[in-house]
Amino acid sequence: MTDALRPSPEDRFSFGLWTMGYDGTDPFGGPTRSKLDVVEVVEQLAARGAYGLTFHDDDLFAFGSSDGERQGQIDRLRGALASTGVVVPMVTTNLFSAPVFKDGGFTSNDRAVRRFALRKVLRNIDLAAELGAETFVMWGGREGAEYDSAKDVRVAIARYREAVDLLTEHVRAQGYGLRFALEPKPNEPRGDILLPTVGHALAFIETLAHPELVGVNPEVGHEQMAGLNFTAGVAQALEAGKLFHIDLNGQRGIKYDQDLVFGHGDLHSAFALVDLLEFGGADGGAAYTGPRHFDYKPSRTEDSEGVWASVDANMRMYLLLKERAAAFRADPEVQEAMAAARQPELAQPTVGADESIDDLLADRSAFEDFDAAAYFDGRGFGFVRLQQLAAEHLLGAR
Ligand code: GCO
Ligand code: MN
Ligand code: MN
Repeated sequence: MTDALRPSPEDRFSFGLWTMGYDGTDPFGGPTRSKLDVVEVVEQLAARGAYGLTFHDDDLFAFGSSDGERQGQIDRLRGALASTGVVVPMVTTNLFSAPVFKDGGFTSNDRAVRRFALRKVLRNIDLAAELGAETFVMWGGREGAEYDSAKDVRVAIARYREAVDLLTEHVRAQGYGLRFALEPKPNEPRGDILLPTVGHALAFIETLAHPELVGVNPEVGHEQMAGLNFTAGVAQALEAGKLFHIDLNGQRGIKYDQDLVFGHGDLHSAFALVDLLEFGGADGGAAYTGPRHFDYKPSRTEDSEGVWASVDANMRMYLLLKERAAAFRADPEVQEAMAAARQPELAQPTVGADESIDDLLADRSAFEDFDAAAYFDGRGFGFVRLQQLAAEHLLGAR
């Protein structure tokens, strides 16, 4: 293995405790392997070159744990972090597994459930701050409904806003260095989930009391379940300064949330994503510097050896794609094809800074003398050639 393909903490790879910890349970069958202990997970992640572990409160200590049980698990985690150097960059709350959350947490029709949910999250935010996390993810998997008659979505959105505003208020009052990242998903487990896509979440954020403290945590499979272009959604979040965190995994088409290994779904899209994250910034640098977080599930066909192989596979896929994207960008033929596709021209404002609307109206070359007919079988963009070059780099053929 070349050094570039060996994961190291500088790569900032992180994993959810619930990912490799998944025991194989699905709606049709029970576990096919044991749950993993957090100490073993931290040690394995360190040995394999990952830098971070993330978790839901209920992954670390079971829902309903006593204060002593909860603290015991936190202490065990702290011990493992201290002895390995692994960090906790993100923490999140489970507002979806316990029966009490069957109609959601922040947006349940039941007010007592909403107050309980807020208390559970507030307690977990304090823990996140204590562990030095930078990001607090909120995936509202149960915030939604199966039936349009179940609730007024406008009112539910207002309750969602009330909850997020209260939580940002807490973070400000406590002086925590935490930011929130909303994770969109179109459906599953609810028939329809509120804030179903990156776009819905971005629009919601602008209505909050403290939008500067709230961004998004887009997940590959969640956008692809809705047939959307994940890389394009991430690009829009980046452009808005809102890509606070990311969930990497693999998905093959419009179906249930597959949570495959990153790159084991739409490989062309994964290539474009890594290219954007790593080389889409100013002067070809990284466009995103936060954790490269994997939210996948080792298939229930795997035994524990297969589970750890799948952890390695996520990181290796990312590093392979990074290597391929670098080669793509460095290829002179690619640069020439990008120029032929007039990519640099897109960066030029359509109307010059010194031009007025009157100047545009007076510019005969823009309209009266413009040769629109030249675009019939002419002035092609050559995007197919560019994509073929990308595919050849992806396949290692160049
Ligand atoms: C899912 C989600 C979750 C969230 C997690 C973090 O589809 O189940 O992706 O895994 O990412 O709850 O908040
Ligand atoms: Mn998911
Ligand atoms: Mn996720």
